Formats: sequence, structure tokens, C-alpha cells
Amino acid sequence: MQILKTKDEARRWVRHQAAMDRTSGLVPTMGALHEGHYSLVRHSLQRCDSTIATIFVNPTQFAPHEDLSRYPRPLEEDLAGLAECGADAVFVPEEGTMYAPGHSTFIEPPAVARPLEGACREGHFRGVATVVLKLMHILPTTHAFFGQKDFQQAAVISAMVRDLDMDVEVEALPTVREPDGLALSSRNRYLSSEQRSRALGLSRALRDAADAVAAGEIESAAIEQRMHRVLTEAGVDAIEYAVIADRRTLERLPRIDRPAVALIAARVGTTRLIDNQLFDAT
Ligand code: PAJ
Repeated sequence: MQILKTKDEARRWVRHQAAMDRTSGLVPTMGALHEGHYSLVRHSLQRCDSTIATIFVNPTQFAPHEDLSRYPRPLEEDLAGLAECGADAVFVPEEGTMYAPGHSTFIEPPAVARPLEGACREGHFRGVATVVLKLMHILPTTHAFFGQKDFQQAAVISAMVRDLDMDVEVEALPTVREPDGLALSSRNRYLSSEQRSRALGLSRALRDAADAVAAGEIESAAIEQRMHRVLTEAGVDAIEYAVIADRRTLERLPRIDRPAVALIAARVGTTRLIDNQLFDAT
């Protein structure tokens, strides 16, 4: 596996793939890799002739009070994991490579960035859209892969790629979970075992919502009430949102009469967790 540190090295790698007429897949990450990330890499390896992951903890998507400085950075482990997975290359830029002194241009995120995470985390998607656009410019691959775990993020990136006429095929892939339902997340490593069992409230509430929809419930208020109840019973410390939204716009949906998604953000201790569930019935 090639480890690329500079933009020139990265550009040379992707130009070489294009010159060989090879399709290429980009898997952007912030490291602290787990099976969720590796599932994206494996999918890319199947779908594309060559695959490049990126590891960069992007400072512009963290608010000042958020966990940027304590975000886990087990780089050696991550590189070994990617190599074992079969990734062809990884781009690991320094902060100054991505944000040179004087950097002052940012993307205005699309409308789908406004509710939910956009409302709770001021400026978050501005940072995400900007860094993903930069990565896609440095590495103009034919494909790029994201996880449905961050459902709104994938929607923001798809809208940006469409609106800005970018020539890359974006795919969002299913959430990888622990056997007991907990969605894999780099932030799970902050949880004590007692907190981890309370964190199961998120996936439990989403399963309960899916069961209710499968049984014919279509009123969002009823489903949202059930999700709140399951989360409270599980003992999460705060619920930021637990809602039913239009799968396309992510605006609140009063009734499930079109493709919908349930989304939750909750805190366990100081750790903020998100999860979501698409409804098969819609
Ligand atoms: P990060 O949280 O490291 O996630 C990288 C990619 O892995 C994202 O597309 C995310 O949705 C996906 N992912 C995370 N957990 C997953 C799971 N359990 N199952 C499947 N996929 C999962 O998301 C980011 O980094 C950053 O915002 C980034 C896009 C890299 C921009 O900085």
C-alpha cells in the first residue's frame, strides 16, 4: 500500500490510474478505523480497479467546544488495517497541507444541511463539504464512498456533487453494527462499558420505530414518542433529536407517506452519538 503525504504525490497517483484507464474509488475518513470504514474500502475494492482511503481529522468541521483535540489518532493501527484490507493507497496529509496559512474559502452547504445536525452543530457541514470538495479536487477519482451511518452527511455530499457538476459517482453504503445493534463509530471508544449499554438505546429505539412502521403506524408523532420512551428507558443522558424525516430533504415529516428515515442524536456522558434507520415499507 502506498502512503501518500503531499498533494503532488496524491495527484500523481490518481493521474496514473486515469492514464491506465482504471476506475478509482475514494474513501475519506478521519481515522480511528473500524469495520464500518473497512466495509467502505472493501466495497470500493470490488467496485473499482483501485482504491484510495484518506485519513485526516478535519479541524474545520469541529466547533470550538467539540472533541477535536481528544479525537483518537491511532495512525499505525489504521495503516496496518488498511493494508490488510487491500487498499492500494492512503492519503495522510498534515493539517498545513490541507489548510495552508491564509486559507479562507469555504463551501456554502446545500439546503439538506440545514436541519438536524446542521441545526445542532453550527458550521459542521460547512467544514465537511469544504474538506470533501478539497479531497475530491486533490484526488479526482471516478467514485467516492460514504456511510449511511452519517445519513445527512452523505446527502449533503451527494447534493454538493450534483450542484457543483462534479464528475464523481457517490455511493452511500449501509451501516455496520455490532451484533447487539450498536452502530460502529470512532466515538464508541470513549464509552465505558456501563455507558455502552446505555448507548444501545439508539439502535433499540430505531428498531422499535421500524417495527411500529412495519405494523402499519404512519403517524410520525406516535413513532417519535416511542423513540423518546425507549431512549429514556435505556438511560441516555440527553436526546438532541429523535425524529422522522423526509429521506430526500431531511425535513420533518408529519406522516410516513413517502420515503422516510428515522434519525437520532443523543448524548451518553459527554459522548455525542448519532444513528438512523431507513424504513423498508416506504
Ligand atoms: P469518519 O467519521 O471517519 O467516517 C468516514 C466514513 O465512514 C463516513 O462516510 C462514515 O459515514 C463512514 N462510517 C462511519 N461509521 C460507519 C459504520 N458504522 N458503518 C458504515 N460506514 C460508517 O465522516 C467522516 O469521517 C468525516 O466527516 C469525513 C467525511 C471524512 C470528512 O472529514
